[in-house]
Amino acid sequence: MTIIEQAELERQQRYIGQIGQCMEAYRSETGFSRRYWIHTYGCQLNENDGEKLAGLLGEMGYLEAAGLREADLIILNTCSVREHADDRLFGNLGRLKNLRQEKPDLVIAVCGCMMKQPEHVARISRSFSFVDLVFGPQDIYRLPELLYHRLSDEKKQYLVGDEDTLVEGLPIHRARRFRALCSIMYGCNNFCTYCIVPYTRGRERSRQPGDILRELRELALSGYREVMLLGQNVNSYGQDFEETGGDIRDFSDLLEAAARENFYRIRFMTSHPKDISEKLLKVMAANPVIEPHLHLPLQSGSNRVLGQMNRQYTREQYLATVTRARQLIPNLAFSTDIIVGFPGETEEDFADTLDIMRQVRFASAFTFLYSKRTGTPAAEMPNPVDPAVMHERFDRLTALQDAHSLAYNRQSLGQTVEILVEGVSAKQDQVFSGRTGQNQLVNFTVADPALLPAEARSPDGRIDGSRLEGGLARVRVTDAKTFSLFGVLEAYRP
Ligand code: SAH
Ligand code: SF4
Ligand code: F3S
Repeated sequence: MTIIEQAELERQQRYIGQIGQCMEAYRSETGFSRRYWIHTYGCQLNENDGEKLAGLLGEMGYLEAAGLREADLIILNTCSVREHADDRLFGNLGRLKNLRQEKPDLVIAVCGCMMKQPEHVARISRSFSFVDLVFGPQDIYRLPELLYHRLSDEKKQYLVGDEDTLVEGLPIHRARRFRALCSIMYGCNNFCTYCIVPYTRGRERSRQPGDILRELRELALSGYREVMLLGQNVNSYGQDFEETGGDIRDFSDLLEAAARENFYRIRFMTSHPKDISEKLLKVMAANPVIEPHLHLPLQSGSNRVLGQMNRQYTREQYLATVTRARQLIPNLAFSTDIIVGFPGETEEDFADTLDIMRQVRFASAFTFLYSKRTGTPAAEMPNPVDPAVMHERFDRLTALQDAHSLAYNRQSLGQTVEILVEGVSAKQDQVFSGRTGQNQLVNFTVADPALLPAEARSPDGRIDGSRLEGGLARVRVTDAKTFSLFGVLEAYRP
């Protein structure tokens, strides 16, 4: 692992300063600022990387564009986890070609996990040669340098580093006001046979506890009420530490320390089932600020398939973890990820998956069709599942999960739940939304505006939902659907 030294960051800082001067000159000449547009695909770790790119651009004097067409710099931050994600990138790049023709000084950058696969970079330079910058997830801190060379020398900059870097101290422009993302570690060592992530993100590197806790303290002080600790496998946090002298040696210790900061809620993902410890469950049970929700990807309920996937647990071990967790944390909600149609999956294997779902009754699940990823061991495995069979299984799986999700949500009918408000509902006017500690989405209306602080109410009686973000609301649930609850506000605390 390479820890990016202060000297390197200072070098980047000089490029930031130089670009900043150009931006300032442009502004005083034209009265306009240059604007950026970042589109992030994939997981929350990638989203957090996008926030760091935005932070760097902010330091250079760029402003965020309101839309793609307004931008002078477009960054596509890619994901490679399933084939669908790859297709979306190339579709979107095709559309950008026209935009670039209309606007010759538009700068287009592509970064993220897909760039770690040389065939994608080759396809970009062959078929989308208007792309100016290409870099990988480990090269984010070099954006100022790459952009500077593109702007001053007008040369394309393609650079995808291979080193497993750990960078501290990058500026960040956070996308949300109510929930902050905090990556605690990067990379993955598990090599599940279907998964591309260990190849795109490199080996596990854990940030130092002091750096993480400093970030959390700053977040709490700047008004964040909810933080989400992120890693591909948070349970193995700290396993790469050479010295074990400090107080914080593993994820449970880190979570316990985070719980002492001033947040309303702490969330985390993702937990690998093989690494859930009794200690972690006890820390969760003892600290109500840690959400009573565990995202525990199952992938398959068949021991044979789990073995082929290199998941390193059996269905019996998974079920034992669920049982123990429920003993210690009775209101715990489980969610999961499941893959349908892994090579060689038989009807019996699939029946084992449905069976474990009936036993656990997940509150929610992300369900995926197996997607072959070149370079992974599963891509070479025999007996691919016929696409029609795969889709038919997928439909049965989602039907079962939908029934479980609805039944889970119905348990809240008539009850009052506490939610952290995320803002206005995307679909309806004067409807607001947030999530319970069990991660259920709750939409609500306000029958009595007097329950809200004055700054959230306008004289005509309308409510400004953005003023409610990050507050805690108590909502009486009047309706339960598969993917959301609906209710009426009973109390609100900013
Ligand atoms: N680190 C996390 C998951 C990261 S990827 C974990 O181990 O739980 C998120 C999910 O994408 C995985 O849990 C898996 O269900 C799914 N996924 C990964 N590779 C896939 C593939 N090749 N085909 C289909 N789904 C895949
Ligand atoms: Fe992929 Fe497995 Fe690592 Fe998750 S734990 S990122 S599924 S290799
Ligand atoms: Fe995708 Fe990379 Fe995340 S492959 S899921 S963006 S780690």
